[in-house]
Amino acid sequence: MPRQRCSPAPFPPAAEAAEGEQRGEVDASLRLGLTSLFTARRPRSASSGAGFAVGDSLARAWERLARAGVDEPRLVAELLLARALGRARTWLHAHPEATVPTDAAGRFAALVARAARHEPLAYILGVREFYGHTFLVRSGVLVPRPETEVLVEVALARLQRPEPRVADVGCGCGAVAISVALARRDARVVALDRSARAVQVSRCNAQRLRAARVTVVRGDLLAPLRGPVDAVLANLPYLTAREMRRLPPALRREPRAALDGGPDGLALYRRLLPQAATLLRAGGLCAFEIGPAQSRAARALATATWPAARVGVVRDYAGRDRVVAVEL
Ligand SMILES: C[S@@+](CC[C@H](N)C(=O)[O-])C[C@H]1O[C@@H](n2cnc3c(N)ncnc32)[C@H](O)[C@@H]1O
Repeated sequence: MPRQRCSPAPFPPAAEAAEGEQRGEVDASLRLGLTSLFTARRPRSASSGAGFAVGDSLARAWERLARAGVDEPRLVAELLLARALGRARTWLHAHPEATVPTDAAGRFAALVARAARHEPLAYILGVREFYGHTFLVRSGVLVPRPETEVLVEVALARLQRPEPRVADVGCGCGAVAISVALARRDARVVALDRSARAVQVSRCNAQRLRAARVTVVRGDLLAPLRGPVDAVLANLPYLTAREMRRLPPALRREPRAALDGGPDGLALYRRLLPQAATLLRAGGLCAFEIGPAQSRAARALATATWPAARVGVVRDYAGRDRVVAVEL
């Protein structure tokens, strides 16, 4: 296997970057949706760079990000300045008058420019929190979303058998497979993806998060798998052709192969479910993530595959249909 670089984005120095992570601050803030702890105030100067106070640098950055149409511009500015300084975000809140050194100001300007071009924050920082764990993410691999945590919860609530064998199809950075494995230490989890990049990042995450019972395999859907499994979990691409034509700027930076689910978004699930049916043990579980508008069609697909199974749909935290759960 080629040597892999299983470390986060290149700066700040590892020891400094760890400061926030150790306190759980990186985890919390990377969920986005949190609001800035700074109150809005106008920048003192329109010029940029070194010699400015933390508060003023932030104000200038968030104005620029807001003008570029970036979501949560204040929070993004804080996370980027914290990264450029090698500090935790709370340090910024405690030191709004501290001067930003020249080198950090240069790094901050470069990071803000990337964010203003709608590069996803997780790609810039190199990490994203999911189910309480910090996952490495890289361009070319989908950034895990909070709503996918529902898939993990559905699996954990329904995996009754001891030492279950679980397959996570379309594993991306390994978020689902590794979260299940860390919560169910007796489980053996096979994470599969067609993308070499995703396989590489998943292996890094399994190693970093010490998920020793996760095996990552490259291949098309369940084709590489041999032998029966107790659960098939999947968050495969499910955007429709129409949604693919109208992708917002930040989503355009994520891999098409992780988003495009064919004309009605269910093309990959139409191939997956018959494969899962041949591998799942009696009493097994198939759970897969969908878009809310696909709920009825996805349920019909599941029922056509397993006429005798219990088929339900679980909602996400926003109350939208999100995961189809098939209990055999
Ligand atoms: C929506 S992403 C989900 C990634 C990850 N499970 C998550 O929730 O963050 C879908 C993943 O499915 C993978 N994929 C697409 N088609 C596939 C196929 N035919 N076989 C295996 N994986 C596939 C993509 O490479 C991508 O990593």
